[in-house]
Amino acid sequence: MRAGQTPLPLGVLISGGGTNLQAMIDAIADGQLAAEIRLVVSNRSDAYGLSRAEQHGIPSAVLPHGGYPSRQAFEAALIRALHERGVELVVLAGFMRLLSPFFIRAFPQRIMNIHPGLLPAFPGLHAQRQALERGVRIAGATVHFVDEEMDHGPIICQAAVPVYPDDTEDSLSARILAQEHRLYPQALRLFAEGRLEVRGRSVLIHDEAHVPDGLLAVPELKAER
Ligand code: GRF
Repeated sequence: MRAGQTPLPLGVLISGGGTNLQAMIDAIADGQLAAEIRLVVSNRSDAYGLSRAEQHGIPSAVLPHGGYPSRQAFEAALIRALHERGVELVVLAGFMRLLSPFFIRAFPQRIMNIHPGLLPAFPGLHAQRQALERGVRIAGATVHFVDEEMDHGPIICQAAVPVYPDDTEDSLSARILAQEHRLYPQALRLFAEGRLEVRGRSVLIHDEAHVPDGLLAVPELKAER
């Protein structure tokens, strides 16, 4: 657990558009999240999230995974960059590389991920497509701590959305993404406030009665389409 007085130093790892990164930037600017994004790292130089960082004066780095002799060399460079900036929590926001135990052990219980599915259902790539193909009626998003297995670590919070008969992968993804933007800053805020405690496979949220809106809610089920 974290003491929670100073702004939480974050390192955000991206590979693409960075709309979750933007949600964090906005939550910090609005005073909803006491954190500071010390570094944005992308493994792809064309990730639009890099422009978002630049627009907000946030330092960024491109570490192309193909430019290193091994996965470990890539991850060692990543660890170094994050340590140099004093990052306390690593935030995976659409980062499309699997991280090995070597990286995970450098930030024990200090890596978060968001997955566009209700874990443990539909881990891995294309969770929204998997949900549609399996015919579920409820889909959603999960924020969890990262452990050494993919999409597996202790779950912090989840949001559910309905699946409609005429949904496409795009329409379902957009509905889930809107919830991701709400959910991720909330999870980060709980961490920053020192209110998350990992107990085995579960995450205990201290003072859970005072969680900002909707951690346990199913917010969109009655929404207009
Ligand atoms: C999100 O759907 C997230 O759940 C998944 O990758 C996507 C990233 O989107 N891990 P963005 O780059 O934050 O817009």
